[in-house]
Amino acid sequence: TLRLKTPLLTNTERLCLLCLEKKIGPSPVMISISTKAFGTQAFLEGILSAQDHFKARSTDILLVSCMKTGTTWLKALAFAILPGQASILQVTLYSARDHMIVSLSWRDPKDVFISTWFYVGKVLAFMGFEPLPMEESFELFCRGILTYGPYWDHVLGYWKAKLEFPDRILFLKYEEMQKDTYFYVKKLAEFMGYPFTSLEEENGVAHKITEFCNFENLSNLQVNKSGKHRENTPMAIDNNIFFRKGKVGDWENHLTPEMGARLDGIMKHKLMCSGLIA
Ligand code: A3P
Repeated sequence: TLRLKTPLLTNTERLCLLCLEKKIGPSPVMISISTKAFGTQAFLEGILSAQDHFKARSTDILLVSCMKTGTTWLKALAFAILPGQASILQVTLYSARDHMIVSLSWRDPKDVFISTWFYVGKVLAFMGFEPLPMEESFELFCRGILTYGPYWDHVLGYWKAKLEFPDRILFLKYEEMQKDTYFYVKKLAEFMGYPFTSLEEENGVAHKITEFCNFENLSNLQVNKSGKHRENTPMAIDNNIFFRKGKVGDWENHLTPEMGARLDGIMKHKLMCSGLIA
């Protein structure tokens, strides 16, 4: 694993090194056993295979969001907007090619951290493991060590790509979508090339999609209460773990103001001069 060079595996390398540093495991071999136990190996193999063989078609729409930034919500919205024959591929890619359309959601990193901590805790419990203490996880998050790589790298990478290809990338923010979902449903429909017709407008289709996909409704659908994500794979998990509170600013209930300020400071430093934050 240490020899393979992709951004994701670079992160795995970091984890290996961190574990070695902290003497949790005696060697990288230990890590590779634990990644197998989590089904991560199949996941990594899938990513490598996608990088080698995936060929985008001009009609593909890629939803590329960091975990816990609102992927489930955005996926439901996009799915509801698209006509029946279209489909969405949810995948994390590290290089967008010319003909791809990419859409992304960004969220306050403090809320992303909290959401991730609860999520990972549930996944670990599901697999019979103890959760990592919040302070320890926070330290890792601040050092950029998490499943999909440093949060700021992801945001910054796609932000720069958006500046380069403004028509191909829609950059969405969770908080703004919460404020005016209806506006962004219409924007998303236009971006994907399926704007609402005047008849659909008259019939309130955008409103209905907005309502259908809201947290309350989506989380109470039977499929989300009892269904499974990646069913029949080693990485199967309950759909309901993708729904927790769906609120902006929940971090205040879990992090100290100092922790919040530290993460803000890191983001400010990392995204400095990008034009993304003031
Ligand atoms: P919280 O843990 O803060 O509640 P992802 O889908 O990328 O894994 O993100 C999960 C986060 O999005 C969770 O945040 C989850 O509750 C929230 N979420 C899921 N569905 C949502 C919806 N329809 N509207 C708003 N937030 C939603």
